[in-house]
Amino acid sequence: MRVIAIDGPAASGKSSTGARVAQQLGWAHLDSGALYRALTLASLDSLGKGGTGKGEGWSVQRVLALADGLPVRLVLVGGAFRAEVAGVDVEEAIRSERVTRHVSALAAIPELRAWANAQQRQLVAEHPAGVVVDGRDIGTVVFPEAPLKVFLTATPDERARRRLTQQGQVLDTERVRRESQALAARDEADASRPVAPLQPAVDAVLLDSTHLTLDEQVARIVALAQERFPTVHRLTGA
Ligand code: CDP
Ligand code: CDP
Repeated sequence: MRVIAIDGPAASGKSSTGARVAQQLGWAHLDSGALYRALTLASLDSLGKGGTGKGEGWSVQRVLALADGLPVRLVLVGGAFRAEVAGVDVEEAIRSERVTRHVSALAAIPELRAWANAQQRQLVAEHPAGVVVDGRDIGTVVFPEAPLKVFLTATPDERARRRLTQQGQVLDTERVRRESQALAARDEADASRPVAPLQPAVDAVLLDSTHLTLDEQVARIVALAQERFPTVHRLTGA
């Protein structure tokens, strides 16, 4: 199967790296976090703040009904899967702080993970040319048979600086400290849940990107891909 799994904590560079690796190989890129974020956005907008507890506004059945009814889905546009809710592109809206605050609670619910896994497997089956998939459980649960699995890390402070820079924010010490804490809290929630916790697959290549540039980490994964997928060629320059 032509799948490269990239997992790792928040803001370690999974999506940026996955998009570039896919571009260089001529594959598609699927950011699985976008599915969980789009589901969270749809729930916040349609069900209100109700929380994810059973019996509240966000019962699992109501969220699943939204997912299938609106629908919430990923659509391939120019080599990358983009999140859509009710036919509207939500790639920007799903990155909001509001969605970020609620997404891990929703992603801990087994039935919603089953829905997200089914979406990912169907999209990959429809794109045999190859898909780079990034997330938290791609190498462990969604595509455990992927021939190449990478677990991408960086220190919490470096990840906080990257996320703030990405958002065009100023990097003062206090802001980096706060963002680093917020990322660590989300990583802790993702790593401690009983279902599909954030962890490296036993056969994942661990890549600490703290001291790497984006180009360097992309080049390392493309080189690994050429080893693991002998018929795959690099299409474009770094
Ligand atoms: O981009 P960032 O690292 O901030 O997060 P993301 O990849 O967009 O994922 C958002 C959230 O979705 C994560 O914090 C997880 O709670 C959840 N997620 C997950 O549980 N499993 C995945 N395969 C991908 C994301
Ligand atoms: O998907 P994930 O949350 O893991 O991270 P991302 O959104 O792809 O990356 C966060 C930011 O880090 C992006 O603006 C990247 O350009 C930047 N970055 C990186 O990914 N790797 C480096 N070595 C340096 C910066």
